[in-house]
Formats: sequence, structure tokens, C-alpha cells
Amino acid sequence: MADPLHNEFPPESLEARDLQHLLHPTTNLKQHHEVGPVVHERAEGVYLWDNHGKKYLEGMAGLWCTALGYGERELVEAATKQLEKLSYSQLFGSKTNEPSILLAEKLKAMVPFDAGRVFFGLSGSDANDTQIKLMWYYNNAIGRPEKKKIISRLRGYHGVTVASGSLTGLTPFHKHFDLPIPQVLHTDCPYYYREARGSETEQDFVDRIVGNLEQLIVQEGPETIAAFIAEPVMGAGGVIVPPPGYYRKVQEVLRKYDIFFIDDEVICGFGRTGEAFGAQTFDIEPTTMSLAKAITSAYLPLSAVLIPEFMYEPFVEASGEIGTFGHGFTYSGHPVCAAVGLRNLELMEERSVFAHAATVGEFFQNRLREFADHPLVGDTRGVGLLGAIELVADKETKEPFDADRGVGAYLMNRCEANGVILRALGDTLAFCPPLIISTDQVDELFAKAETALNETLSWVSR
Ligand SMILES: Cc1ncc(COP(=O)(O)O)c(C=O)c1O
Repeated sequence: MADPLHNEFPPESLEARDLQHLLHPTTNLKQHHEVGPVVHERAEGVYLWDNHGKKYLEGMAGLWCTALGYGERELVEAATKQLEKLSYSQLFGSKTNEPSILLAEKLKAMVPFDAGRVFFGLSGSDANDTQIKLMWYYNNAIGRPEKKKIISRLRGYHGVTVASGSLTGLTPFHKHFDLPIPQVLHTDCPYYYREARGSETEQDFVDRIVGNLEQLIVQEGPETIAAFIAEPVMGAGGVIVPPPGYYRKVQEVLRKYDIFFIDDEVICGFGRTGEAFGAQTFDIEPTTMSLAKAITSAYLPLSAVLIPEFMYEPFVEASGEIGTFGHGFTYSGHPVCAAVGLRNLELMEERSVFAHAATVGEFFQNRLREFADHPLVGDTRGVGLLGAIELVADKETKEPFDADRGVGAYLMNRCEANGVILRALGDTLAFCPPLIISTDQVDELFAKAETALNETLSWVSR
């Protein structure tokens, strides 16, 4: 496609060739053809450089994933060693490999619930897709074939495959894709700042939305509902931290109707919330868990689904009757990804990364709250090393900006111009730095974000 809007890039530049050849995921393609790409060239620790030598502080850990930062030699060595020893092996048909076994053992020992079995994939999306399939397989195998629906939440993000994209509760991931599929239902988002009514307290709000969840279950018939899925803190939906008591109430309802809790720890897992898992921060008792991203600090793709032994047992009998357990990927248990995952988790322990993240997280949250007084900021929220500020046209009334003005996108661009990578989710600016960030670097991050915010205020005022 010719790019009439964009002719300032020399034809042989990476930018021009990107514009010619790539279909970019989760990108406003129209805007992309107007402004062109940013080419990332190299990275070290919490810093990243583009192909023009511009340095950025990485405030988003890539896509919420580079927990140990960039250029970690130990992980390069773990990958190299495994590539030289056994570059590939499968888990199909009873084959196995040492890194997958060791990593499964390690994960079972780390998670805060009684996990029995670990299934490996490559992405958060395939993990959540697998979750749905395992719920269906389990309920068929134990003779409750009608118990199949999955309840997810509006604004939740669980991936983009046909099934996981259906769990995602954000319109751009459904529109024109004919999603969601009918087995997926959506309930309220625990977004007190925007969705509380009138003078509703946090407690009233929780009672109302959990009441709505129960109503949905009763309307649909509890015998038709297999599971509820949630990210402990919603990430891509706007960094939504639920009010106190929310998960306790949700779990009371789920237990009452024998509905499983799928805990999507793809962002929250491995230290992000100040504890090892979001489940611990929010008193969630998962039935099953999805892991990805920080499981390898994004050095290689890997995901894991952890299920209790009682779910696994019926799979054994059923697969014997059918002839195979017919689910798995070529790269399930890829030995190089597993070796990197294992070394990554060992390094997190050896270097007390979760404790570091918790300590720096407190400093980070205090710095984040300082934005509360800024004229553009309606809400600041977060936990651990995860946070967000929400921009509003009017602090008193919480009136948002007209979406067409693109205020969040403008702020994100000013952040980049000032040398910090942050992500606009609508008019909410998300922060999710690598867990290894120091307090000085947190100061640098917020100083740059503040400059960008003030520049945005001048622009908005004009
Ligand atoms: C909570 C959560 N679940 C699932 C996913 C999907 O992961 P992936 O992009 O690896 O498919 C994401 C991605 O951001 C996520 O944040």
C-alpha cells in the first residue's frame, strides 16, 4: 500500500519498510500510517534505545512483562546452554524433558493454592483458551455437560484468541471480530472511581455489583456456569484495583453455586503487586491459575495453566476412552523456554526480587499519589509496582475528556518525547516498570511523566 501520508522516511529505512510490510497487533492502523513506527534497537536494565539513539526509561516493562529488565546475562546463558543441549523436544505422546519437569515442580511449589498439574503454552491468550477448554473437558468428563458458561468482567483483558478474546471485556477486541462467543458472559467491573453511583460507599458499590453477579448466575442457571475469570488487578482495562472486600464477596457467591475461580495472574503473577501473586494481595483462593509474561521476564514466550489434581483425575479416564487428551501445542513445554523460565524464577528468589518490588513499590505508590493534586488528574490508583493516573476534564464532577481529543494518547507521546515509555489506556496512563527498578529510577520516571503531564495541561488549555 502506498503511504501518501508518510513520505519523510527514506525508502530503505526500517520505518518505511515497516509501513510497507507489517500488520501491527493492537495498533490504530490509520494513525500508524500517519505517524509511522518507533524502532526499538537495544535495551539494558530498565533502559531502551531506539534506532536514532534516543534513550527511554522503560516504564511499562514492555507489555507488563520484562520483570527482570533487559540484557540479563544469566538468562541469555540459560537459553544458550539449553539450545546447545536440546533445542527442541515435545511433551506430546508421553515424551518429556527436564526443564519442563523442573519448571512444573517449581511453579507448583510457588503458587498459593494446591496445584496438581501444569500445562504449558506460549501466551496468556492460549493459557486462558486452555482454561476454557479444560473447564469444558472436566465438566463433560464428570457428567455435567450443561455446566459450560464462563463469566468474565467488562474491561477485563484475557487475550485475543476466539475464546480468550471473548473473555476480554473491551469493545475493540470484539467489534468486527464477531466476538464474544455465546458461552461467555460479562459482569460488572469493580471500577469504583467511574462506576459508583451517587453517594455509594465502596462497600455499597461492592454489594451492588456482587449482587448483580449473583443475579446473573441465578438468571442463567448456576448449573450452566462453570467458572468466573478475573485478573486480581485489571491491567489493560485501565489498572483497576478492586475495593476492599470485593473478592471475598465474589468468592462467597461462587462457592454458593459451585463455580470455579480462574485466577488470571498473567500480569499480577511474580511480584507485581508486592507479593508473589495477586491472589495473596487480594485474598483470592484460585481453583486454577494462568501464568505468562514475567514467568520468563519475556526473554522467551511461555505460559502455564495450573489446575488442581481433582480436575486432572477425570481427564485420565476420559482421555483413555477417547484415545488421547486432544489438546496441546507443538511448543508446549519447549525446553529452551522452560529452562529460561526456571532460571528466571531462581534469579527472582536468589535476588529477593519480590521483596525489592514490595519495598520500591511503596515508594512508587507514594510518588504516584502525588499526582492527585494535578489539575488534569481525577484518580490515582495502584498496588505494588503497578499504577495509573486517570485524566479528567473536571476533577470535581469527574467529567472525562471527549474521547476524540485523544488526551491520553497526547500524554503518552509527550512521555516518549521526554524519554519515558508509558502506556495510554484511553485517558488513563499506566505505569508498570520492570521489578528491578531502583528508587532513583522511579524518581526519574515520575519526573519525566510530570513534565509530560504539564505539557499536556498546556496543550489542553490551549
Ligand atoms: C491479564 C492478561 N491475561 C492474558 C493476556 C494475554 O496474553 P498474551 O498477550 O500473551 O496472549 C494478557 C496480555 O496482556 C493479560 O494482561
